[in-house]
Amino acid sequence: MRLLSIETSCDETSAAVVEKKGQYISLLSNSTSSSARIHAQTGGIIPEEAARAQINAIIPVINEALLNSERVRAKSPEEEYKIAQEILSQKIQGIAVTSGPGLIGSLLVGIETAKTLAFVTKKPLYQVNHLLGHLYANFLVDDTNTKNIEFPFIGLIVSGGHTDLLFFESHAKYKWLGGTRDDAAGEALDKIGRMLNIQYPAGSEIEKKAEQNTNSTLHFQSPLLHDKSYDFSFSGLKTEVMRYVKNNNLDENLINSVCDATQNAVIKVIIKKTLKAMMEYNTSRVLIGGGVAANAKLRNSLKEEAKNNNIPLMLFAPSPSLCADNAAMIGARALLAEQPVPWQKVTPQPELYFST
Ligand code: KG4
Ligand code: ZN
Repeated sequence: MRLLSIETSCDETSAAVVEKKGQYISLLSNSTSSSARIHAQTGGIIPEEAARAQINAIIPVINEALLNSERVRAKSPEEEYKIAQEILSQKIQGIAVTSGPGLIGSLLVGIETAKTLAFVTKKPLYQVNHLLGHLYANFLVDDTNTKNIEFPFIGLIVSGGHTDLLFFESHAKYKWLGGTRDDAAGEALDKIGRMLNIQYPAGSEIEKKAEQNTNSTLHFQSPLLHDKSYDFSFSGLKTEVMRYVKNNNLDENLINSVCDATQNAVIKVIIKKTLKAMMEYNTSRVLIGGGVAANAKLRNSLKEEAKNNNIPLMLFAPSPSLCADNAAMIGARALLAEQPVPWQKVTPQPELYFST
């Protein structure tokens, strides 16, 4: 089965064409337009601006994904619409869309577009939880990679809006173990980046600056490190860094040290709780997803820490471009785990969280 999937939960407008290939998902095309540059000017996302950008991008992005899935090019905008329409009606068997969580204005653009396409083409419509989508980016394959993801596994979602640990027994049966009580890991990095005059979104730049650090003495606390739950909290770290930044004259070297210490504090607690979950639920498999999962230090330190503690680990992580918001991951979750829903029943769920 081949799906057109759509993701518009925040500041990325993305459309993809994906196809089921055994227990994995083949990625035929994935087109994404981001309004992050607009938000860089204000240091964070203004929901109204994000929604307006979604409106401008949604149709061109869908057309591009459809044409790329068949490797065809149009000679004019008129031809582009015609070819896109033909591919949609002849090659696509269903439509998937992110229903939440996310910004309501942004979600609405993708959802109303998907509902309209499903209604007009009479194709089944699938709604997907964005957060599960992040983990399902791991099921996307191309001709060059093979995988052996088996149940059970631990799912670690680390994004700009969420930090969650889950235990999966099957596609349908999963349990939420814990999550952040305040800021998400990426959100904390972005806010700390702002204190350091690093452009939004700051995560990858913080990672680069941390690599340049030559002074390893600076240390920030990892909140809830010794707490027995699987919960996280990053707002205290933000306050600790803010105090440090106010009381010190930051030159380039010190900024690199602050980045390194911040990144270490975030990573340390994520790793500790992920390894604890693996042991408690007796599994060596971990799937990570979300923008922060692109962080190489996080991936490498998780492997290193598992090795130092003699814990067998099979870590699955998407390629960096598929860690960020994209529609391919939404199609992957839809094809592997979701059932179609009547288009009349699909509405935005901005506060869609996991139940315990
Ligand atoms: O998953 P995502 O694209 O959007 C949400 O669903 O939130 O995640 C965006 C987040 C931002 O906070 C960004 O700073 C962070 O991912 N991020 C990183 C890296 N690349 C992006 N954080 C740490 N290291 C990175 N290399
Ligand atoms: Zn996301």
